[in-house]
Amino acid sequence: MEKRSSFGSRFGVVAAVGGSVVGLGNIWRFPYIAGENGGGAFILVYFIISLAIAVPILLSEFTIGRRARSNARRAFTKIRKYGKWGWVGYLGIATAFVIMSFYSVIAGWSLEFLFSALFEGFTNITSAEMGDKFSLFVGGAVRPLIWTITFILLAVFIISAGVEKGIERYNKIFMPLLLVLMIMLAVNSLTLPGAKEGLSFLLKPDFSKIHPSTLLQALGQSFFSLSLGLGAMITYGSYIKADENMFKVGGMVAISDISIAILSGIVIFPAVFSYGISPTSGPDLVFITMPVIFGQMTGGYFIAILFFFLLFLAAITSIVSLFEVVTAYLTEEKNLSRKRAARYVAVALTITGSMCVLSQGDGTGFRIAERSLFDWCDTISATVMMPVGGLLIVFFAGWVMKKEVFRNELTSEGRYGKRIFPLLYTLIRFVIPIVIAILFLDQIGLLKLVK
Ligand code: TRP
Repeated sequence: MEKRSSFGSRFGVVAAVGGSVVGLGNIWRFPYIAGENGGGAFILVYFIISLAIAVPILLSEFTIGRRARSNARRAFTKIRKYGKWGWVGYLGIATAFVIMSFYSVIAGWSLEFLFSALFEGFTNITSAEMGDKFSLFVGGAVRPLIWTITFILLAVFIISAGVEKGIERYNKIFMPLLLVLMIMLAVNSLTLPGAKEGLSFLLKPDFSKIHPSTLLQALGQSFFSLSLGLGAMITYGSYIKADENMFKVGGMVAISDISIAILSGIVIFPAVFSYGISPTSGPDLVFITMPVIFGQMTGGYFIAILFFFLLFLAAITSIVSLFEVVTAYLTEEKNLSRKRAARYVAVALTITGSMCVLSQGDGTGFRIAERSLFDWCDTISATVMMPVGGLLIVFFAGWVMKKEVFRNELTSEGRYGKRIFPLLYTLIRFVIPIVIAILFLDQIGLLKLVK
């Protein structure tokens, strides 16, 4: 058998995992969720939930992956030989596919907007005009299809080059670039008149705005943002070297994830306030509100280009991790070469991604119960597949894996994090499964915490 690949250096691991976690979730989703949930108050809750719930799950996924040294499907049956745990792996692979299907569509939009920014610019466009332009584009077929497929091909290119020469290498270039762009954009936003108001919306917690629904939103966001619940981090964990300190990697990645989310709030909200737009514009924030603002800003032409390029970088490094879940499964379980496996995934994804694109347009068939396939992929993965997957994964880590095996793997045979292990293990065994179960029951409507 071929020697299994691994990430080469600490920087390589952090860049690769960081590339997965920092994505559309941070730049497109986080600002509008924070905007709709009261800004600063949400961020505080989000911070606590990320550290107490998401990071332990991240570490559990790493541990399962590194222990088994295999793809997300095989990992479960390698650790626990009996029972039906392999299904958790299949669920993960299916979830990765569902997320990729709509993710590649939004990523395609970032490419369209990058080209619009380059060749047309948004000078003096009004919100109404931008809204029309956006609906016309999204509701069309040819252009969104071309961009989605272009995006998928770029992902295949990176995946085909392998773990070290593809995933690690490109992340090592893209992630620092992304950080630099982000900081430049944030500095620019801070110099806008009215920036203060935007900042205080973002950073001053107004506790009257914290409701049970805030907690649920924050939990869902942290799951998505840290790439949890489907084995992406099991797959990447399987490429982490045995003597690597996973606590450090997990900590650095979580801090980057939160910082980039907040930075993207710093890019967006001062601009939103400075141009007198409501911070609660929802999913349109990035694709309608921001172009309008860029069109009025001095230097907006260049800022817009940087912004949409950044969005594209964030998206490509994330989809690569989803792609890898399926690719690793096909190469290891079906004996395909990496290139061939990646091509199969791309073909299948082109079909489902295209169906998502077309389901947005008017008159076409891919609608179920009045909602587009695109919406369904987003909703089903976020409300059912990821929570169930996450619950099963922590349950596996806390109750199915032997404690010694789990501890030895996570702490690299007792070298790191011995002191916080007991606390972490309690969270994994008791607190986290209960919290996720409550969230899940609420979401499918069996329990009504939130009206
Ligand atoms: N974390 C990415 C984002 O914030 C999305 C993502 C990549 C993801 N891989 C994942 C989400 C695996 C869930 C599971 O955009």
